[in-house]
Amino acid sequence: MLDSLLITTAKLTDAEAVTRLVNSAYRGEASRAGWTTEADLIGGQRTDVERIFEMIEDSDASLQIAWLDGELVACVLLKRENESTGYLGMLSVDPTLQAAGVGKKLIAHSEALVKSWGCRSMRLIILQARTDLAAYYERRGYRKTGFSEPFPGTDPRFGVPKVEGLRLEEMRKHLD
Ligand SMILES: CC(C)(COP(=O)(O)OP(=O)(O)OC[C@H]1O[C@@H](n2cnc3c(N)ncnc32)[C@H](O)[C@@H]1OP(=O)(O)O)[C@@H](O)C(=O)NCCC(=O)NCCS
Repeated sequence: MLDSLLITTAKLTDAEAVTRLVNSAYRGEASRAGWTTEADLIGGQRTDVERIFEMIEDSDASLQIAWLDGELVACVLLKRENESTGYLGMLSVDPTLQAAGVGKKLIAHSEALVKSWGCRSMRLIILQARTDLAAYYERRGYRKTGFSEPFPGTDPRFGVPKVEGLRLEEMRKHLD
């Protein structure tokens, strides 16, 4: 199946489909079909079309999207934070296709792309409470840096916390 995975750079015309994919992967009932979800931690939307437009138009970012048989099945946002560091965010796989290797393939693709920008490390942020996700990234070589900060639960455009005390935690990987 993965042999036919096609990865492209998102265009403005992909924004609505990407928004649907991201919101279904992270939260709400649809996300429960996957192996990891934040549905019990945060409600509301993860993103919206306006935010995706901004990402696609950001000259320091690249929104990569993956297709299987013409269907959008995954995406990842990469940002060039500075000369040495890339940022990986919004990694999302269609919940019905998770645990088949698509996420790993997109992470490897992301690392290669960020290295081609000259960056030597990748940074990402996860919800501290998502220990299954931290373990997933640790198995890919990412390490917690010790930096964490409160989840900014004040803007419903990014979601509404369902539990108190949520924190975001930073992980990094050196790209050889
Ligand atoms: C995180 C995510 C991108 C991973 O993508 P994926 O395609 O499912 O991942 P892969 O198929 O590459 O790998 C599946 C991994 O999950 C593990 N896994 C499967 N079922 C699991 C379970 N019930 N509990 C814990 N781990 C499990 C597998 O062991 C495998 O890891 P391994 O290869 O190290 O053993 C995807 O689950 C997703 O979109 N989640 C919702 C959005 C999200 O949370 N994104 C990350 C934000 S930082």
